Amino acid sequence: MKAKSGGGKASAVAAANIAFIKYWGIRDERLVLPVNPSISMTLRSCLSRCTAELLDDGAETQVFLRTESGELAPAPDGFANGVREQVERLCEWAGESRSMRIAAHNNFPTGAGLASSASGFTALTVAVLGALGREVDPTEMSVLARRSGSGSAARSVFGGYVEWPAGESEDAGHGVQLAPPEYWDLCNVVAIVDPRPKSVSSREGHRLAPSSPYYQRRQEELPGRLEIVRRAIAARDLELLGPVIEKDAVELHLVAMSSRRPIFYWQAGTLAVLEAARQLRSQGVQVYCTIDAGPNVHLICRPEDEEAVAETVERLAQVEFVIRDRVGGPPTLDDRHLF
Ligand code: PMV
Repeated sequence: MKAKSGGGKASAVAAANIAFIKYWGIRDERLVLPVNPSISMTLRSCLSRCTAELLDDGAETQVFLRTESGELAPAPDGFANGVREQVERLCEWAGESRSMRIAAHNNFPTGAGLASSASGFTALTVAVLGALGREVDPTEMSVLARRSGSGSAARSVFGGYVEWPAGESEDAGHGVQLAPPEYWDLCNVVAIVDPRPKSVSSREGHRLAPSSPYYQRRQEELPGRLEIVRRAIAARDLELLGPVIEKDAVELHLVAMSSRRPIFYWQAGTLAVLEAARQLRSQGVQVYCTIDAGPNVHLICRPEDEEAVAETVERLAQVEFVIRDRVGGPPTLDDRHLF
């Protein structure tokens, strides 16, 4: 991966990913290493774009969000600080003392359980390294994206189906592609029951997870689940994959709801979509749900069932809108700058 634009300015686009087996519990906060391995599918349509440009030495890194009307607005402090820290980290890694102008944009709801931090920090990492003119292989890019604090960004660096092992050592904590996107064309119909940002961050959820009485139980079950998911991907077997990913998602939320303090990401609409999926299955449609740290439900299905699944959940009163996504590729650099 190398900057095409050069001249100290680069733009990158990266996709969100949906975890089949979830990362929930952090073992090293500074290095952002997870307790358990996770496996995900990189998406195609839920995208983050980021433009990074080198500033003259001495200036502070500036962070903007592109608004819907196409203007740049200063980013909120929490997000801007996370971006500045990642820019500093990457410049330090590159042996440069520079500041940057950064602009970011997501084409889907931010902070609502759609992995916007994974795509956002992956796009940022690729754009900053592009602006610095650094050539970085995907493995190293994955380590650098992970260090942003959004561990799941380690997976968005690769397209298709990706495992992020727990990583014995720091440098082993990078994503590994299990299969490219063209290997298995799966759909992700996302039922949005609430597009607003969640009130409790995943970072807080990772910290609180071990306080749940169900946390250890889930950890014990994970090696078996991970093995089934690897096998299901290799065999392109949705009937094998589906029940395991739905179970893992429900149990992540069981852990969250029973941690001290408890976190409730689910809303009434979440349950309505889960029920609709059960109904569809009883009619012979292969569709299985997974839910990240938010109330919105990802329905995994085959392309031939996408229409029926989307139409069914669109009709639910609690569903505001539906995003039809599917498996996608790795991040790319281009010259479509945000400023
Ligand atoms: O990468 P983070 O810190 O945003 O945490 C991601 C947590 C989940 O989305 C719930 C699970 C996952 O593996 O993506």
